[in-house]
Amino acid sequence: MCGIVGAVAERNVQGILLEGLKRLEYRGYDSAGMTVRSPQGQLQRQRALGKVAALEERLAAEPLPGHSGIAHTRWATHGRPSEQNAHPHQSGERLAVVHNGIIENHEALRRELEGEGYVFTSETDTEVIAHLLERESRRVGDLLTAVQGVLAHLDGAYALGVIHADEPDVVIGARKGSPLVVGVGIDEAFLASDPLALLQVTDRFVYLQEGDAVRLSRGGVIKVVDADGYAVEREVQTFEHGDGAASKGDYRHFMLKEIHEQPAVIAAALEGRLGERSVLVESFGPDAEALFGQVKQIHIVACGTSYHAGMVARYWLERYTGVPVQVEVASEYRYRQVVVPEGTLFVTLSQSGETADTLAALRFARARGYLASLAICNVPGSSLVRESDLTLMTQAGPEIGVASTKAFTTQLTALMLLTLALGRVRGLDAGEQATLVEALRGLPGLVARVLELDPAIEALGTAFAEKHHALFLGRGAHFPIALEGALKLKEISYIHAEAYPAGELKHGPLALVDSEMPVISVAPNDELLDKLKSNLQEVRARGGELFVFADEQVGLAEEEGVHVLHLPHVHEALAPILYTVPLQLLSYHVAVLKGTDVDQPRNLAKSVTVE
Ligand code: G6P
Repeated sequence: MCGIVGAVAERNVQGILLEGLKRLEYRGYDSAGMTVRSPQGQLQRQRALGKVAALEERLAAEPLPGHSGIAHTRWATHGRPSEQNAHPHQSGERLAVVHNGIIENHEALRRELEGEGYVFTSETDTEVIAHLLERESRRVGDLLTAVQGVLAHLDGAYALGVIHADEPDVVIGARKGSPLVVGVGIDEAFLASDPLALLQVTDRFVYLQEGDAVRLSRGGVIKVVDADGYAVEREVQTFEHGDGAASKGDYRHFMLKEIHEQPAVIAAALEGRLGERSVLVESFGPDAEALFGQVKQIHIVACGTSYHAGMVARYWLERYTGVPVQVEVASEYRYRQVVVPEGTLFVTLSQSGETADTLAALRFARARGYLASLAICNVPGSSLVRESDLTLMTQAGPEIGVASTKAFTTQLTALMLLTLALGRVRGLDAGEQATLVEALRGLPGLVARVLELDPAIEALGTAFAEKHHALFLGRGAHFPIALEGALKLKEISYIHAEAYPAGELKHGPLALVDSEMPVISVAPNDELLDKLKSNLQEVRARGGELFVFADEQVGLAEEEGVHVLHLPHVHEALAPILYTVPLQLLSYHVAVLKGTDVDQPRNLAKSVTVE
């Protein structure tokens, strides 16, 4: 939700800020803006409705020279997308602020400030911060002190970047509840919502902690103060993934690139975590073995695609460890009177580690007597990772496409590792463990073979481009895969899609089936296959056109109205990972045919750091 960049450098900062915004567009892209302090000491601002490219055009016509600046790409929460509501927001001509997050008490603060004569020019919650800062900086004189003073009045979640015309070559940052990192350059310093935004200028980062504020000044001087106002040293960490992740390479879209990266990133997720015949329990940390022995229940909480990964894991965990599992979306969980039986492990799943509802769920859970919390996450240093007892990184590398692909399959891989680690501690049959470990080793190769079906899947996509609805069916652990397939199609092609457990078809959705409703089904070779085949006959009998992704060994043949695409045979437990891939490719090709914005679909954002 919204992306922030800031920079203080010897060179002009406009180019650094602009490149940073482009790399943060996945966080929001309804408007963008930048303020740079000119060498003469004036704040100069450019804002534009629409994507960062619109701002870039304005900057080409009227550049903003200077050595310190802040910039923002927006995903609207308070106030519609418009140039007036675009950040940076100013109080008068001397102070500007960019903000990611939500200020919950903004209405009361606005009334107070209006009472004092401040005039608001936008509908945003952010503008109260600008005026509060203006008031406070006049009182205390120094911008960092002013920011610290104002933070105490703000309820909600925020990451901020602030500049003041009277403080040459200084940018102040602060965070509580929204991500913010400091990029450490050579005699330069930067701020951003995500390290990715700054990889063109540095690979060294300080991950600010909750309540931290930071002052960046000329010569690369970085001063961090904690929530209590004390100056603190924060460790400088080197970013592990190369900058290649931030470019599309030869691919037309990030989403397609990320789909094709799956064999490599699934292998990365497994690397160093598999023993010869079992999973290395220490992959979850030194305390994992002792903790896993005490687990009697598991609660899994997540949002969006990550939630679907949790639903698959329930089938695995109950089947192989015998531990009862509940899975819930974070936005529901956090407002429920949750009953936590003794010995319950709390598991969060998140690509970003910054999703507001998931993070709030973790904080809510901490006070409820769980045995421990485990985060399965893709972003090292993210809030979820820092605040959990145990972590397992999914190693997918940065994911840019808003529709999640490789993050999902690596989450599933990590969840299978969890299943086998818990299973090992709880006495899962050694032969069964060895078979699954062997199957996991073969998984990247099988995913690569599924990717070879891309041209055939592209051809299938033509049947969908003119359709308005689609139905996805699956059974068992493939019901969540059907849900994920439907979500992908909705997100990027805007075709209305629903998913049902195939056995539920006759209880309602069958009424919708006719020649205009394509029905997509995944048919791996498992114990539910025969039941699924009967469900597919029910569709065929009503004139529905079927698209089936089936195991090459199941003997499903093409016929009039039934399109079958065969996938390589895979261990039944790992089939949900393999069968996700053709559904991703199908959605991708349908979206390309429809001409939608594949990587940045309308109304969505990659990382939802607001409730
Ligand atoms: C947003 C994204 C989804 C993602 C969800 C949860 O809605 O568009 O792709 O699945 O957030 O994000 P997380 O980072 O917690 O996995």
